[in-house]
Amino acid sequence: MRPTYLEVNLSQLEQNLAAIRSQVHPAKVMVILKANAYGHGVEGVAPFFAPKADYLGVALVEEALHLRRLGISTPILVLGGILPEQLPDFFDNGLTLTVASPMILDLAQVMAVSRGKRLKVHLKIDTGMERLGVREYEAEPFIIRSAACSQLEVEGIFTHFANAEAKDQSHPRLQLDRFQRVLSVYEKRSIPRPKLVHAANSAAVLALPESRFDMVRPGILFYGVYPARDIEKPIQVLPAIKWKSRVVHSKVTQPDRPVSYGSLWKPGRETRILTIPCGYADGYFRRMSTQAQVLIGGKRYPQVGRICMDQLMVNAGSEDIPAGEEVLLLGDDLTVEELSDWTGTNEYEVLTSIGTRVPRSYVRE
Ligand SMILES: Cc1ncc(COP(=O)(O)O)c(C=O)c1O
Repeated sequence: MRPTYLEVNLSQLEQNLAAIRSQVHPAKVMVILKANAYGHGVEGVAPFFAPKADYLGVALVEEALHLRRLGISTPILVLGGILPEQLPDFFDNGLTLTVASPMILDLAQVMAVSRGKRLKVHLKIDTGMERLGVREYEAEPFIIRSAACSQLEVEGIFTHFANAEAKDQSHPRLQLDRFQRVLSVYEKRSIPRPKLVHAANSAAVLALPESRFDMVRPGILFYGVYPARDIEKPIQVLPAIKWKSRVVHSKVTQPDRPVSYGSLWKPGRETRILTIPCGYADGYFRRMSTQAQVLIGGKRYPQVGRICMDQLMVNAGSEDIPAGEEVLLLGDDLTVEELSDWTGTNEYEVLTSIGTRVPRSYVRE
């Protein structure tokens, strides 16, 4: 295996899931596996967690098909928007469709009739994200129309919060109010309410307990990372990954010899420079150049010079660290939060950017 790899601790993920479950009980839990399981590697994570999840959530039809090809039979909701030509995949693979417009509703019903096959759908209500879905003020005719679609099983109805992680909860509360008003249409119109009402992403699981309904959809929290630094933490979770590599070259560099592309950084004095075989093509962002740190033997060392496509350099100072030594790029004391600060992005982007060129290895401990 490549010396640069991601070690994923499945037992830690299992503990995170258990912690979420005990907090949200009796709500069901949809495990979110989109974006290569938030970078953790869907091929390792999905087979282990599919039997433990009530539902799986992905963004793309292609991601759902990948799960089915892995032999996974758990119900899968494709959360993202789709084009009409992608509809047959839902019928052929037993996927649950997010119906985000009357047009898709009608097309799904027509296709279900022509195929003689019922399709499970979840209605998507846009209560204030302004992304996918039918707005709450247009929801009543949409719900009535969906109830008339004989070949569709309206199993769920859901919305998504734009900023449930905010200190000021007025917008998420407004979204929740709007969603609750939409749900009241079922009673008003004597239409049976779908059995899976859901709204809560990780932030709402933590900060907005009233939004748990029948099922929650925690993504980043399952992976052990909090959706915001200063959010309440009624659930204790821990990250489950270590991004490891090894020194492939170690040499003492003279003060007048700048390191790497652009000659950004010069040692100033004789120093040991280590080369690590990982770069921005692996998702170790170039923007972290000269700001990042790595751990070797539990001690922090600064990354120096421009991060290259496939390699990065570390200043070991006067320490005699030989080639072959293990290097931790992320994990233990070196947090996703730090990497996101060094990059100027958020924790989601750091995790989901770890490239597919980085092999994943799965441990249980
Ligand atoms: C519709 C939907 N539900 C749930 C999630 C999970 O979000 P988070 O990782 O913040 O819990 C996402 C992710 O963006 C999403 O798009």
